[in-house]
Amino acid sequence: MTNPQSEEGRQQAAKDHLWMHFTRHSTYDTHQVPTIVRGDGVHIWDANGNRYIDGLAGLFVVQAGHGRTELAEAAAKQAAELAFFPLWSYAHPGAIDLAERVAGYAPGDLNRVFFTSGGGEAVETAWKLAKNYFKLTGKPMKHKVISRAIAYHGTTQGALSITGLPPLKQQFEPLVPSTFRVPNTNIYRAHEHGAPEGLSPEAFGRWAADQIAVAIENEGPDTVAAVFLEPVQNAGGCFPPPPGYFQRVREICDEYDVLMVSDEVICAFGRLGHMFGAQRYEYEPDMITCAKGITSGYAPLGAMIASDRLMEPFLADGEMFAHGYTFGGHPVSTAVALKNLEIFEEEKVLDNVLGNEAAFRATLERLLDLPIVGDVRGDGYFYGIELVKDKATRESFSDEECERILFGFVSKQLFAEGLYCRADDRGDPVIQLSPPLICDQQHFDEMEQILRVVLDKAGSLL
Ligand SMILES: Cc1ncc(COP(=O)(O)O)c(C=O)c1O
Repeated sequence: MTNPQSEEGRQQAAKDHLWMHFTRHSTYDTHQVPTIVRGDGVHIWDANGNRYIDGLAGLFVVQAGHGRTELAEAAAKQAAELAFFPLWSYAHPGAIDLAERVAGYAPGDLNRVFFTSGGGEAVETAWKLAKNYFKLTGKPMKHKVISRAIAYHGTTQGALSITGLPPLKQQFEPLVPSTFRVPNTNIYRAHEHGAPEGLSPEAFGRWAADQIAVAIENEGPDTVAAVFLEPVQNAGGCFPPPPGYFQRVREICDEYDVLMVSDEVICAFGRLGHMFGAQRYEYEPDMITCAKGITSGYAPLGAMIASDRLMEPFLADGEMFAHGYTFGGHPVSTAVALKNLEIFEEEKVLDNVLGNEAAFRATLERLLDLPIVGDVRGDGYFYGIELVKDKATRESFSDEECERILFGFVSKQLFAEGLYCRADDRGDPVIQLSPPLICDQQHFDEMEQILRVVLDKAGSLL
């Protein structure tokens, strides 16, 4: 074992032993493993003492900001009192209180909260519930899932099967069968993905929603159980819904008795200025999957929230939903979540997002004067900046340019200049921004200034 006290020792240990997630380890043959040691508010520090603005809230997680001692204290207090107990036929006060609180925030009659350890497990839970529900209610053939192209729903085999990103799936095939993709709401490239040319946003929304009906018809309505949709699709670089999209999806789901699952692993808990994304876009799903921001990341937790109707068959004598996770609804995590939601109320975190989102957008839109910035899109504190080779024609990067410019330069240089965010090519090349919800104008400016310097230089490399 190398000396864990020294930074070099730890670097070597990282390279020798730590298998990082979604990581090209060969990068670290010639580079240091960036090691983050501390956070405070909107900023983080690495082991070399460099400061960065956290433009991604960790990974769409740290809503209340870093370094909140009250959340750490809530965790410590709970661990000292009752560190662990499962929710398998037993309960603990934190899970009960949090379930009640979350149900109170959730839209419509989404009153039943099933805790998990994270987002992928919430997605798994939702699919299993959809299948089980229809088996218990006389439609046993209904089991298939429809989701959208390029959408990410997690890495467990069921959630990965629902994910619409072939490069993340092929090496793990065969996955769970019976999932099908429809177009997403990428209005910037609508025509390239099959929409008729020249549609208004409303007409495009109608067209995109109607593709779900087409897919249900193609598969056979008696076999389709659910459709999984994010309020704003993350992968591909923030696709908000066009006007009327979710209302039309709701109509289609009602017509075919298909469950509408709002995958809000990113969009819930203030990311869009509301507790749930469904509230922002005024629709009522049958289930919500959530995780990440529920604890602001101070402990892991996820949840599947279902309507009363979906739980009803499981309340019959002798029935149960034969599904669970040891750490789902962990006492430390629920205590942290309760404190986190208290902070949301006390500090009016949602109002901060709603009050500042126009300024965030306007600040990022200043970047549109750079030839390499094709589109700036998103809502709330959740934005994607699409990079293009030619703004007039919207020509995208080649694979070689993605490697050389997006990953070889932009991604590294943003970090070197002090902005932690994400460069992504799942779809077209984008930079994703999703900062802590306590950000204000000075932080927007800090992000914009770094982006401007780096993107300006990137443009000259094309
Ligand atoms: C929309 C969506 N669903 C599911 C997941 C999976 O969540 P987890 O990584 O907690 O399993 C993610 C993760 O980013 C996500 O963005």
